[in-house]
Amino acid sequence: MCGIIGYTGDKKASDIIIQGLKYLEYRGYDSSGVAVLNDGVIKVAKKEGRIVNLERHLEEYPLEGHLAIGHTRWATHGRPSDDNAHPFISFHTRFAVVHNGIIENYLEIKEELMAEGVVFRSQTDSEVVAHLVEFMDKGDTKRAILDAVAKLKGAFALGIICVDSPDVIYAVKKDNPLIVGVTDNEGFICSDINSLQKFLSEVIVLDNDQMAVVGRGKAEVFSFDGIPVKKERIKLTAEEENALSDYECFMDKEMSEIPSALRRAIKFYREEKCFSKIDKDYLKKIRRINIVGCGTALHAGLYGEKLLNKFIPDVDVHSEMASEFRYDDVKVDENTLTITISQSGETADTLTCQRMVNARGGKTLTICNVPTSSMVHYADYALMICAGPEVAVASTKAFNCQELVFAMFVFDLALLRGTITPETYAHFCAEIDALPEKAEKALALREKISAYAARNFRRKSVFYLGRGMDYCVAMEGSLKLKEISYIHCEAYAAGELKHGTLALIEKDIMVVALVTQKNLIDKMYSSLAEVKTRGASLTVITPFADNPSLLDIADYIMEIPVTEEVLSPIISVIPTQLMSYYIARAKGCDIDKPRNLAKSVTVE
Ligand code: F6R
Repeated sequence: MCGIIGYTGDKKASDIIIQGLKYLEYRGYDSSGVAVLNDGVIKVAKKEGRIVNLERHLEEYPLEGHLAIGHTRWATHGRPSDDNAHPFISFHTRFAVVHNGIIENYLEIKEELMAEGVVFRSQTDSEVVAHLVEFMDKGDTKRAILDAVAKLKGAFALGIICVDSPDVIYAVKKDNPLIVGVTDNEGFICSDINSLQKFLSEVIVLDNDQMAVVGRGKAEVFSFDGIPVKKERIKLTAEEENALSDYECFMDKEMSEIPSALRRAIKFYREEKCFSKIDKDYLKKIRRINIVGCGTALHAGLYGEKLLNKFIPDVDVHSEMASEFRYDDVKVDENTLTITISQSGETADTLTCQRMVNARGGKTLTICNVPTSSMVHYADYALMICAGPEVAVASTKAFNCQELVFAMFVFDLALLRGTITPETYAHFCAEIDALPEKAEKALALREKISAYAARNFRRKSVFYLGRGMDYCVAMEGSLKLKEISYIHCEAYAAGELKHGTLALIEKDIMVVALVTQKNLIDKMYSSLAEVKTRGASLTVITPFADNPSLLDIADYIMEIPVTEEVLSPIISVIPTQLMSYYIARAKGCDIDKPRNLAKSVTVE
């Protein structure tokens, strides 16, 4: 959802910006730009489309200089174009600004500035910031920025440079992520911790309402009141190499990392005694659990809901997509726990819900992948999923790890509350230990699924079906397929199809069914017979590959390893991830950067 980066140092700044932007491109990729300060003049290059367009432009028209800011955009206000690309320059070209977020009161500010004769060159909300800062400037750059920021409403991470400060980048954070870091003779700002791994070994994570003045080898942090703030430096530990290596794309790489990510998550959860860090007395008292997330993270939450309902029957569980949760009159009291799930920990809808719950005095626990994220920072408790950097817009390994960590939490909670026996708990622990190897076996379906995709990638419409826990995986499989292949796809609880949607089933429609729960095979068979009778092509993902009914009805069977049923969604999702990947690949889609999307959605 827009990525920003800034550099000051001895190297050619525009080169560093391009390298950094490539790591940030997953945050938005409809235009990019760079502003370089050299000899008291700011020069800007901006290009619609992918970063490679900007890179080519800079090869032809290089920008010399050692201080620069850059931006990669996911359009909100103003269509993707060169003009609407960042950075924006102020009216007397003294300031350049890059912005991630939304300035809610930009129209009001724009009118005021236009009345003063300022001419705007874009349709964006962000341009107002550049002009406003210059308008506020009375000779003290830091003061001008703080005065301008005091007038802004909304969410913003800003990178600002000024002709008066040839070695300094100003970084401002409110509700959108921003990291700063320095080496002996360099300074960086960036939206994302992973993008700085190449350059830095430690970083400072800004909190809301903080500004940093970043120079060569030094960073000072201030509150929006201008008061200096002492900040801790966080060491960067690369869990996975976030370069592509020999893989075709990040989604391919990240699916291959599922087994190692699961191993790491299990080890971390146990060795760090993550569950014991949550207040036991509180956990025993909980009467209600809300689960909130978006997209893939929400689907992991729906799985968590099924587990909680099964193993902690005396707790009311309510799961909801974050964008709706905040409008519901959801109950939050001292015996309610709200669990937010998020890969990035920055998704605005989810973060807003977390804040809303905290503001009402409720406790929050986040299941998250990014330790330095806002969600981890502001939650009462955090369980890290340790999936390692996820760069592809389509989430894969994070989903498997979110499900895993949710399951481990539920088993611990059930043991604590006495709703499972120590023997059952030990059985689940052993089954959890077996998951990474089972994930490896499921990934061995690659070849079969690649051939399957070659035969099926022209399908116009696909339905994913499942019952019980399988329904959560059906939803995730369906989201993944439509997201990267642009094929129309829907997920249905298998029993619900006959109440209307069955009307859409005809010849050439592809139906993918998840059948991992033994007691549901017969019921699933009835639903599958209904679609088969209407001419659909049927693919079944199941560990019961020799079941005569399934063998009889399926056109394709994707066999997955037998897994403890309550854990099967962690494995059964893998063929759906592979199917999406190979189908999108067969269609020639840009897998890591699907159209209209961005990885980290930091606007509501
Ligand atoms: C789909 C996908 C999205 C995210 C959603 C929430 O593949 O990645 O649906 O799951 O935008 O993002 P996080 O988990 O970062 O809160």
